[in-house]
Amino acid sequence: MVEQARKIAAKISISYIIIGAIWIIFSDQLSHKLAEGDFEAYIFFQQYKGWFFVLITGIVLYGLVYNRARDLFQTQNKLVNKEYELQASNEHYQSLFKHNPDAVFEISKEGAIRAVNPEGEQIMGYSCAEIGQGGMSKWVVPEDVERVKFYFSEALKGKPSKFEFQVLNREEERRILRSSLLPIIVHNEISGVFMIGRDITNFRRDEERMIESEKMSVIGQMAAAVAHEIRNPLTSLKGFVQLIQVTKEVNHDHLDIMMSEINRINLISSEMLILGKKQHVSFQKEEINELLKQVVVLMIAEANLHDISIELEHSDEKMYVLCDANQLKQVFINIIKNSVEAMSQHGKIQLSITKKDGNVIVTCKDDGVGMSKERIKQIGTPFYSTKEAGTGLGLAVCYKIIERHQGSIVFESEVEKGTTVTVTLKEAHLSS
Ligand SMILES: Nc1ncnc2c1ncn2[C@@H]1O[C@H](COP(=O)(O)OP(=O)(O)O)[C@@H](O)[C@H]1O
Ligand SMILES: [Mg+2]
Repeated sequence: MVEQARKIAAKISISYIIIGAIWIIFSDQLSHKLAEGDFEAYIFFQQYKGWFFVLITGIVLYGLVYNRARDLFQTQNKLVNKEYELQASNEHYQSLFKHNPDAVFEISKEGAIRAVNPEGEQIMGYSCAEIGQGGMSKWVVPEDVERVKFYFSEALKGKPSKFEFQVLNREEERRILRSSLLPIIVHNEISGVFMIGRDITNFRRDEERMIESEKMSVIGQMAAAVAHEIRNPLTSLKGFVQLIQVTKEVNHDHLDIMMSEINRINLISSEMLILGKKQHVSFQKEEINELLKQVVVLMIAEANLHDISIELEHSDEKMYVLCDANQLKQVFINIIKNSVEAMSQHGKIQLSITKKDGNVIVTCKDDGVGMSKERIKQIGTPFYSTKEAGTGLGLAVCYKIIERHQGSIVFESEVEKGTTVTVTLKEAHLSS
């Protein structure tokens, strides 16, 4: 800048000197000529040549200085405008950051938390400075650290992501954040990561309550059928005991039957107990054939009451899915229960388990009343039910649970022919 100013000043001075020199040479020669010829003109010229010089250099200097000054002011104007724009964009960013109803964390490439907005401070119960003292791993619950690190490294590669994880706040309370991670790109380079998170803990708790209460209501509805199912082996047991009392003899074949009846009662009642138990949602690898067998044990009771058979075509190969076993059972119970209700008397429900493209696919096929296309569209809407005593919550809960398992449910149906429900879940490998 100084160098440039010096150049401009030098240019103006040199221009002045050159014009001066040219004028001196020119005026001297003209004076000579006039002195030889026209003396009066010579006097006139001598008298006014200084004024001429001042006038000409004045005009030239005005031109030069005007040009330069104009450039200078234009540049300065541009600068002021740029600064104004910069300030406006900074204020834009600050509004987005400060007044965001979601928590915003600015994280450096190294994983240090550089800035946290007021909502982030509120969720964590710590100030921005306190949060900045620890890296992400200090606030994330231990079981989620690896996952957060993975998505963080993906964001550093330029790939944004959406996921849920839990943080520990000042009260050592776990809060669930539904968050997005996105790269901060400055001058075409990734300088860090923004994490935008919404506290969904309360929402999740309400959802949990709804799933739980729907489960309890289904268990209530199943109770009668299950009690009935237990009464049959009990009746047979009673018969054998009475026989022993009369004959005072123990028949070994009878003992085997008695044992198997006791096992059946045990199986049904323990499945009912497991299902009814209030448990923390926990995702574990479960074998899907085994899980469905346990569901069938319970549903057979309901089916038997209506003379409906349930066939489970399970695979010999073990297939695992990462799931909350009880919630997944709840899904299949609801689906099978709907099939039973769609058939009223007689009929067959076919369950099958297959594997395709890294997914485990469970289908439930019935030959019940079926549904029209319009009705299929309504499925999953809470309180949508065509049954007199229906709650219309069963499938709404199924959708919620399957969504949490990152799977899908698809309904295919034909009126008066039957319905096939397909549940697709990601296969989990036991070793991973
Ligand atoms: N397998 C099926 N066959 C025919 N209709 C079905 C079937 N499954 C679900 N539906 C329809 O979907 C509606 C909603 O089901 P659901 O959410 O379980 O509530 P509910 O069973 O209490 O009615 C049912 O009322 C019924 O009309
Ligand atoms: Mg139902």
